[in-house]
Amino acid sequence: MKQQETEVLVIGSGIAGLFYALHCARFAKVTLITKGTVGESNTMYAQGGIAAVFDQADAVENHVRDTLVAGDGLCEEKAVQLIAQNAQQAILELDSLHVKFDKKESGTFDLHREGGHSHARVVHATDATGKEVETTLVSQVCSNANITILENCFAVDFCVTDNQCCGVIAIHDKEKEPLQIHAKVVMLASGGAGQVYQLNTNPAIATGDGFGMAYRAGAAMANMEFVQFHPTTLYEYGQQVFLITEALRGFGAELKNMQGETFMEKYHPMKSLAPRDIVSRAIVNELAKSGEPCVYLDIRNFDTHDIQTHFPNIYQRCVQAGLDLKKDMIPVVPAAHYMCGGVVTDLNGRSSIKNLYACGEVSCTGVHGANRLASNSLLEGLVFAETAAADTKTLLGQVPISSKSLNFLHLNEEEDSELNRQKKHLQELMWKYAGIIRTGKELNDCLKELKQMQRELHSKISLMGISIAALELLNLVETSLLIVQGALQREESRGCHYRSDFPVHADSPKMITQYSDRIFFHNE
Ligand code: FAD
Ligand code: SIN
Repeated sequence: MKQQETEVLVIGSGIAGLFYALHCARFAKVTLITKGTVGESNTMYAQGGIAAVFDQADAVENHVRDTLVAGDGLCEEKAVQLIAQNAQQAILELDSLHVKFDKKESGTFDLHREGGHSHARVVHATDATGKEVETTLVSQVCSNANITILENCFAVDFCVTDNQCCGVIAIHDKEKEPLQIHAKVVMLASGGAGQVYQLNTNPAIATGDGFGMAYRAGAAMANMEFVQFHPTTLYEYGQQVFLITEALRGFGAELKNMQGETFMEKYHPMKSLAPRDIVSRAIVNELAKSGEPCVYLDIRNFDTHDIQTHFPNIYQRCVQAGLDLKKDMIPVVPAAHYMCGGVVTDLNGRSSIKNLYACGEVSCTGVHGANRLASNSLLEGLVFAETAAADTKTLLGQVPISSKSLNFLHLNEEEDSELNRQKKHLQELMWKYAGIIRTGKELNDCLKELKQMQRELHSKISLMGISIAALELLNLVETSLLIVQGALQREESRGCHYRSDFPVHADSPKMITQYSDRIFFHNE
């Protein structure tokens, strides 16, 4: 196996990995690996924006309160305060790196409003905020002499001895052989796992690899049952899911049924701008009653110039779908969107494994609790990347680089069409049995099937060798196991976890933490 060495190793090139790498490059040599090309990430597709208090009439305490309300009793208040207090500074830093946020003529940020927010506080770049942030950070990272980027480099497993992380095993496409990267410190910033579900807003790379790796390494994982479903994605049979940003509802779009009647007033006083879990369940309920395939967003009374200015990509996509936005309502359905739980970290981004940090969507910092407030994810990635980088600086001098080489299972380069069929089956299974509304009976049936899939995949990999497709499927299965096990243990409904057999809150909110035995695809 090839060997490499670096001081700081970052897995992932979304907002969290890139921002952390940039901050660490001020004092260390950094290697950043990413499984695809450097820009491909959930971050790239983020639409709405980044939450930060800039309006004079707003206050950081309001942002904290809205986040705690959305989190439904399970947020860590200190983590929430950390992101809310540091939001302005994070946005100003991006601004200084030339991220082109929309501004008013006065030069102040144009602020959108989204679900669950009591004020307009979403800083944005039209309806393609993620692309603007991602491309700017990528160009900064690519021109930084202290950062080495390895594209098409797939992280397989952490190297962990005595609960201490000393690097990763990866498959680098260019070399066509496994690679062991030794590092003093590893940052896991591998993003989410939307691909667990049949309908999801995430790109194909979001296969939960970081959750699988952390689980196999025995890291503490929590809140995995809290999968956030976004209420409004364009309903178009057979097409790639396309998000219709919540900011459109913040701008006045109303949810209606096929008859053009509003229905959200039956579910929440904030109506179409209620927190996402409430809107998603309301839609599922309405569809179950009506038997219709979708509900609608009505923006027929919007000024066309306003839509084209604030939401140019959504306008284009709707036109491409054959909609005349002056006459037609936009058909929408919910889809899996965001993992609220993940690798448990402290306020410095440290996981339960020494020298292993986690940041961004793969982490569970305590910010989101049982349900994430809109536009808090990019913000969490920025703020925790910065605090983790500051902590890394203090740690680096105390950690030696391990030189221990490991043995690795062989690579299997044969195509296996069966893996695709199994992935589709898994996505349908999870959508049906561990989706927006869950029951104990269905979750138990699902768990049995997942365990069987996990066993079969482990033995297939041991026998035939490792391939990226097999590992991605295994990571999807292991992420699903964490979701379903958490959902079964949580015999209540809270935040975005809803059990129709336990429809109300339990008496006191509790976090569910899961660990696994260490199972690696390499040995010493
Ligand atoms: P990502 O941006 O997903 O990056 C993860 C990186 O890890 C990728 O580069 C990936 O290739 C790499 N990676 C994964 N596995 C491996 C592996 N095995 N080996 C090597 N590399 C690996 N949030 C907001 O706050 N505001 C919004 O407006 C917003 N809109 C959204 C719209 C859409 C359509 C989607 C999908 C999400 C949106 N979100 C939004 C959520 C937010 O975009 C994500 O939670 C956030 O971008 C996650 O950032 P990240 O850096 O943690 O992960
Ligand atoms: C959206 O733009 O609706 C998504 C925002 C988010 O996920 O925070």
